[in-house]
Amino acid sequence: MNQLGRPLDSRTALVTGSSRGIGEATARALDEAGARVILTGRTVADLERVASGLGNEPVIIPADLSEAGEGTRLAEAAISMVGCVDVLVNNAGFPIRGAPEELVEAELDRILAVNVRSILMLVAGLGPAMIERGSGSIINVSSVASLRGPIGRVAYTATKGAIDAMTRALAADWGPKGVRVNAVNPGIIKTAMFESRQEDMTDVAQAMARRVALGRLGEPRDVADVIVFLASDAASYVTGQTIAIDGGMVHAMTVQEGSG
Ligand SMILES: NC(=O)c1ccc[n+]([C@@H]2O[C@H](COP(=O)([O-])OP(=O)(O)OC[C@H]3O[C@@H](n4cnc5c(N)ncnc54)[C@H](OP(=O)(O)O)[C@@H]3O)[C@@H](O)[C@H]2O)c1
Repeated sequence: MNQLGRPLDSRTALVTGSSRGIGEATARALDEAGARVILTGRTVADLERVASGLGNEPVIIPADLSEAGEGTRLAEAAISMVGCVDVLVNNAGFPIRGAPEELVEAELDRILAVNVRSILMLVAGLGPAMIERGSGSIINVSSVASLRGPIGRVAYTATKGAIDAMTRALAADWGPKGVRVNAVNPGIIKTAMFESRQEDMTDVAQAMARRVALGRLGEPRDVADVIVFLASDAASYVTGQTIAIDGGMVHAMTVQEGSG
């Protein structure tokens, strides 16, 4: 493959939640683009399955990001195994659903730990080496939930809103030091997370799916391709952005037959 097809040759990328779904597709796309990928998640068998399909000497570092100290330990392990990490993709995350009046503190602590705290601790652990080299790209996986007010997902939406806000703040802090920070906001992507919502998929969610301007739900690769772009030098003047990858679901208004 020519240089144009491998824009991340000789770079190293850490992708959290790369055992399946969007993270797996991102690991594959980064590997195809030339990067050496560090895979991480809790399910070692799935990480090994993903690693077996990669060509650039992938590294596996299992971690449960709900545990205190795991973000820092993961960052230290990554640096000791590969040196500087050039690209950090903070993808691991999960939703909780339910009415606001049914929120449980322990569940809140867990979703904040995985969806928010782990990102900040990985940034704190891996950022200094990026700053020392004067370059790096951090991509946070948010959600279109942060751009709307989805019903029954207040805690998940809070975590994704925090991701958008920290993306802008971090871009301001580290832009002068050569480190770019962006977020992608997927719409409805066909992964295990999407499958898990099938049983209790509400009328609202089904209506949203019908309103995707491009007329289809997203594939993990749709998100992965934008992440590779943000990781590469092609995006060298892009920072502090939150980019919806939703087929036009949130901002394009598709008018249903019979509506005004
Ligand atoms: N799918 C969608 O429609 C959609 C839409 C908007 C945003 N997103 C966001 O996209 C990201 C990926 O979603 P997905 O659909 O690919 O979900 P998924 O298929 O459920 O995958 C989630 C990944 O996160 C990892 N993970 C979960 N809890 C973890 C923990 N405690 N410690 C370490 N890793 C953990 C999982 O690995 P293990 O289970 O092996 O630990 C898995 O690799 C999430 O941040 C999600 O909020 C998804």
